[in-house]
Amino acid sequence: MSVYVITGVSKGIGFEFVKQISEDGKNLVVGLVRDNAATEKKVAAELGDRSNVHILHADLTSYASLNKAAADTANIVGERGVDYLVANGAFPSLFDAYDPIGALKGDKVEELEDVSSKLFRTNVVGNIHLFNLFLPLVMKGKVKKVIAISSGHADLDFINDLEIETSALYAASKAAMNVIVAKFNAQYKKDGVLFMSLSPGAVEVGHFANVTPEQMQGLMGSMGKFSAYAPGFKGPTPVDEAIPIIRSTWEKASIDGGYGGAFVSHFGNKQWL
Ligand SMILES: NC(=O)c1ccc[n+]([C@@H]2O[C@H](COP(=O)([O-])OP(=O)(O)OC[C@H]3O[C@@H](n4cnc5c(N)ncnc54)[C@H](OP(=O)(O)O)[C@@H]3O)[C@@H](O)[C@H]2O)c1
Repeated sequence: MSVYVITGVSKGIGFEFVKQISEDGKNLVVGLVRDNAATEKKVAAELGDRSNVHILHADLTSYASLNKAAADTANIVGERGVDYLVANGAFPSLFDAYDPIGALKGDKVEELEDVSSKLFRTNVVGNIHLFNLFLPLVMKGKVKKVIAISSGHADLDFINDLEIETSALYAASKAAMNVIVAKFNAQYKKDGVLFMSLSPGAVEVGHFANVTPEQMQGLMGSMGKFSAYAPGFKGPTPVDEAIPIIRSTWEKASIDGGYGGAFVSHFGNKQWL
């Protein structure tokens, strides 16, 4: 029925997007990954032989690889173009996930600078290249939706009201990405292309499987705040349950409905958990 291009499908939310979307044999899914051989193997092992899934190499930090992936995608999708471009891949830095911003000094200075550059290069500049290179294909598609997977961490009210002092650099990269999405909306809304930023909520993908007791303390502090913010919050949502919620929000989002350039949660509003 629809053609999807999704970045970062090697694991986590991205792999689950591929799994669930390609269950409908009429959908065509092109997944972009850094290690295509490993992902092809994983797709074959876990999803079986799905001829509607294509895995291509692309690294968000390499313009040349994204350019090649766009050309290869054009050959695969032909005149159908791309209906949904989902910018899911990201550098999910854990460097600052447990510590407050005031602790990122002293012996952490060099790593702070390295991680900041990598975050901006991957999560911001990488997606500028992705959008520019795939836009001609999106213009050819019927649906014309570009969805950037963001994070509630980037919402100023969420940070200020809950006093979330961790994940500063990662949050800043997502906030910068949200601005880029709005800029693309500013230019391409008139062409009927919906650009929006969508936070998936807290989703269980195994990021915190090997935390130290000290890191766990930092995490529990955030979890306590999350529970106070959303009393129904019982921890991250299993990834298979998160996907239909996210998809239903991008389905109902439209330019006419006011979603052009918007930054919303998986619920389609500013309720982040
Ligand atoms: N899980 C959550 O609770 C949560 C909450 C808020 C937002 N998010 C967002 O959801 C999206 C998916 O994250 P996830 O939770 O599923 O994490 P994940 O399992 O760590 O997946 C991240 C994906 O991004 C890919 N990636 C990283 N660097 C890349 C690069 N330079 N070029 C291309 N791909 C790259 C990874 O590929 P490799 O295998 O090659 O590393 C992987 O496929 C991200 O945008 C994340 O910020 C997640």
